[in-house]
Amino acid sequence: MTGEQIRSYLEFYRDLGFDSVYKRVPPSKRTELRITDAAPAAAPVSIARVAAPVTPAVGPVMPAVSLPGLAPENDTLGKIRRDLGDCRRCRLCEGRHTIVFGSGNERSPLVFVGEGPGADEDEQGLPFVGRAGQLLTQMIENTAKKEGIPILRSDVYICNVVKCRPPENRTPLPDEMEICGEFLFRQLMAIKPKAICALGATAMKALLNTKEGITRSRGKWHKWRDIPVMITYHPSYLLRQYNQQAKREAWEDLKTLLHFVYD
Ligand code: URA
Repeated sequence: MTGEQIRSYLEFYRDLGFDSVYKRVPPSKRTELRITDAAPAAAPVSIARVAAPVTPAVGPVMPAVSLPGLAPENDTLGKIRRDLGDCRRCRLCEGRHTIVFGSGNERSPLVFVGEGPGADEDEQGLPFVGRAGQLLTQMIENTAKKEGIPILRSDVYICNVVKCRPPENRTPLPDEMEICGEFLFRQLMAIKPKAICALGATAMKALLNTKEGITRSRGKWHKWRDIPVMITYHPSYLLRQYNQQAKREAWEDLKTLLHFVYD
């Protein structure tokens, strides 16, 4: 394994909540290897979940455990969906009708990330199929057409930070985002798109862990791991009548994004 592969392997398990790994060495020489220490030369990684510092092990050294055999590059959307199962990991399962995993081209160079399913999505099991979804489809397809880029909505992949509808369409809570974020991260790692578009503040927070407001962050390139992320307004926000200026800006953001991905 190369250093880069080891780094990405460790980051993958850190995102899944593992704090420590154990070197397979003779019992007499066993020492704990800390994930936070394992990649000291790594470039800063923009992910929402950074492993909490782990205090060095004291007392008896725990038995060595093998890391599960799954490497990030072998992960597939099918496997991630199976692992998600009939998810009951957080309270959002109580009010949901359907888990909305994601839809579109699984090999797309472009992934859109929204906040969470609304009523229509919960009903149909597909992301962005309600009013905001129709606007998103129009934005993608009209901008692409105008810019001479031959893509339709079905050519990109669309998913959300949380896969279950929050009650009354409230904003997902931090623990819900954290739990479901693991599946979002795996989706993104499995697809490995050329760019990600974060739609609105929730997607921005989940991917970039920033405190900056959306107005300042939109229209600029950021990074999740090594993948460029464009932030723009959520389509629901654009549906409000008084947001003409925001609409113009979102169209500009999309133009920049589509040219970067497809030129
Ligand atoms: N809003 C979202 O953030 N996601 C959807 O799937 C629909 C509306």
